Amino acid sequence: MLTLLELLKDGRFHSGQALGIALGISRSAVWKQLQHLEAELGLSIHKVRGRGYQLAAPLTLLDPLAIRAQAPACDWPVLVFDSIDSTNAEALRAIERGQAAPFLVLAERQTAGRGRRGRKWASPFAENIYYSLVLRIEGGMRQLEGLSLVVGLAVMQALRELGIPAAGLKWPNDVLVGQKKIAGILLELVGDPADVCHVVLGVGINVNMQMTDEVDQQWTSMRLESGKAFDRNHLVAVLGEKLQAYLNRHQIGGFSAIQAEWEQNHLWQGRAVSLIAGVNQIDGEVLGIDSQGALRLKVDGVEKVFSGGELSLRLRDDS
Ligand code: BTN
Repeated sequence: MLTLLELLKDGRFHSGQALGIALGISRSAVWKQLQHLEAELGLSIHKVRGRGYQLAAPLTLLDPLAIRAQAPACDWPVLVFDSIDSTNAEALRAIERGQAAPFLVLAERQTAGRGRRGRKWASPFAENIYYSLVLRIEGGMRQLEGLSLVVGLAVMQALRELGIPAAGLKWPNDVLVGQKKIAGILLELVGDPADVCHVVLGVGINVNMQMTDEVDQQWTSMRLESGKAFDRNHLVAVLGEKLQAYLNRHQIGGFSAIQAEWEQNHLWQGRAVSLIAGVNQIDGEVLGIDSQGALRLKVDGVEKVFSGGELSLRLRDDS
């Protein structure tokens, strides 16, 4: 299917006959594939009598060679899927199959992209980044402490470098612009965290998406913030370099080496918040994080520390 897309991605008109010849298939087979692209991938294709077929907008598809050329230091294998249930799920399957880490799974779209706390992650075709980097961790728990926060910092820095200066962090690992979410992170782990394990660093970044009815919270994208479209291969390359630098620092110095920098970029530092844990709500003021990445809240005048994947923060109306 992507072969037809490869031909159409330039955004120019192509006649049915030319497409058929290039693909070695009949014109009616071309027509069927075009319908599939529209129905399955949600692409809009103009059909003009006498001229042929044209994508409503040109596409730049993910390209491992373009990524490698721009991030030579990131020499991990890159697996690119045109469509997959979830890059995190595929990464876990690849670990199971014995694929040697580190490796990176990317997809043009996800049919079951997963977010934190059982949410879905909107994953339209060729608009955003769905990124799962797999690491093998041998250093025990210390190598995992604060890891998801470190990934958040790397994502934030990549966005800033590409021209989204207002990108900031919200504990534990959301990247926001103002109150709107622009990127999310989901870590999944297999193996023994106290000994040898694999961790999947799942990152979703809203890049060129301009509308969706699949998101039930305030969101934005790099394009909406800047008014311009971004080259996703370049973003993947920049993200890879940032991740590599932060992961090295984390490996050498532990999370405490990064704690202060994380706090400096925490948008909700000092704010009045509610911490939501299932049906429970704890009101407090954000003091910061500890050396393991846990949240420090002042609750009724007393400092308390919270950690755990199912927690989330909301700003209180009076903050
Ligand atoms: C969140 O809820 O904030 C976390 C969202 C994480 C989404 C990314 S997209 C790539 C990877 N694959 C998934 O299925 N989820 C993560």
